[in-house]
Amino acid sequence: MERKGRCIFALLACASVGLLSQWWRSNLFHDGDQTVASQQAEHDKDMSTAIVAESSAEPLLDFVAACRGVPDASCTAADRLEYWMQKFGHGCHDHYELVWRGRNLTHDQNEVNIPSMSQVTKFLVMTGAAVSAGAAVVEMGTFFGAGSLALAAGLSSSAESRHGPAPYLHGFDFFQVTDIQVRKIEQAWGHSLGVGDSTASFWVELTKTVYPHVEAHAGAIGSATAQTPRAWGDTLVDVFSIDSAKTHDKLKSQSMAVWQKLRKGSVIVFMDFMKTSQPLLVYHVLQPAGMVKLVWHAITSSPVAFAVTTEDHKALKTAVYNFRPDKVSSEKRHAAAESYLADMKTYAAVYLSPNERGSTGKLCNKSHNTKVFFSKMP
Ligand SMILES: C[S@@+](CC[C@H](N)C(=O)[O-])C[C@H]1O[C@@H](n2cnc3c(N)ncnc32)[C@H](O)[C@@H]1O
Repeated sequence: MERKGRCIFALLACASVGLLSQWWRSNLFHDGDQTVASQQAEHDKDMSTAIVAESSAEPLLDFVAACRGVPDASCTAADRLEYWMQKFGHGCHDHYELVWRGRNLTHDQNEVNIPSMSQVTKFLVMTGAAVSAGAAVVEMGTFFGAGSLALAAGLSSSAESRHGPAPYLHGFDFFQVTDIQVRKIEQAWGHSLGVGDSTASFWVELTKTVYPHVEAHAGAIGSATAQTPRAWGDTLVDVFSIDSAKTHDKLKSQSMAVWQKLRKGSVIVFMDFMKTSQPLLVYHVLQPAGMVKLVWHAITSSPVAFAVTTEDHKALKTAVYNFRPDKVSSEKRHAAAESYLADMKTYAAVYLSPNERGSTGKLCNKSHNTKVFFSKMP
């Protein structure tokens, strides 16, 4: 009876926050996109199913099994992620509940929808779970923490199986309220925040609801924070996620301290891949040089993740810093677009059934007008 009551309460809560969530999306961030709204509705429905299915005790992401067959000391984040991709990467459904059974990840402690510019998917949860003991997650451009919460959930799911120092999730952002957000934050959350007020403690409290080892770094990334690896304790970086740099110059100025701390098997998550020059960076420079390979490609949103495949982090950094997107000829852009499409086709052949693949360059029949993007970026 008690369980049934909880489920009904959860369903009612989901229904009311679902309405609020659509308001957030269409008003605060001018998203208004029908597909986003319907994805959210579908997601809320799935969330209630996940709450009902919460009872099994078997771990969904088995950290130890992921390294079977790989010598322990050399098992990397990318090895684990690739193992879980074989188990959970298939199909067009990317709901986080497929790999996480803890608390819902789209709402805060008070059941209010977290403003987000990304979808919380199984890919981010698996990526957080793949991090080794003693390594760090460096996340640039956290906003209110929607993506962070998914990474934190992953970190938490494998926490008991790790041996060694707990990895930290380091969030970098201005963490400051902007003028258009003030009234809306108050209406939705009841918090009275003014322009310039800090959102860092909100981010910390939220991410700590699923994982305790988190640290917020407020300020301009690259100039006020993240100038050297000391910002995150000088540790290796197993996951570098970036959503704050929409041009290559910004990527360079913000990420300068990170490259030297990546190793073979680290994972780079480009949270807004197709709206930046990052596809050109990857498919014109890094992938042809054998420095990265595609690990996952989100379906209902824009993140894409690559594993570092080189030991030579200096060469990796040099390649990033020598890249001049404005100097790439249209032929080379065309070649990069072809290479991206070929990668997507291979990816689709591995993870999608024939009827989910769609036509050239489409995953799960979502449109990817790749060639147009490549000819225009940056
Ligand atoms: C697209 S939003 C991130 C959305 C977030 N990843 C999510 O899951 O909802 C970009 C964020 O980057 C931050 N940002 C952009 N440029 C920055 C900079 N130079 N220094 C610090 N933060 C920056 C903004 O404050 C904003 O919160």
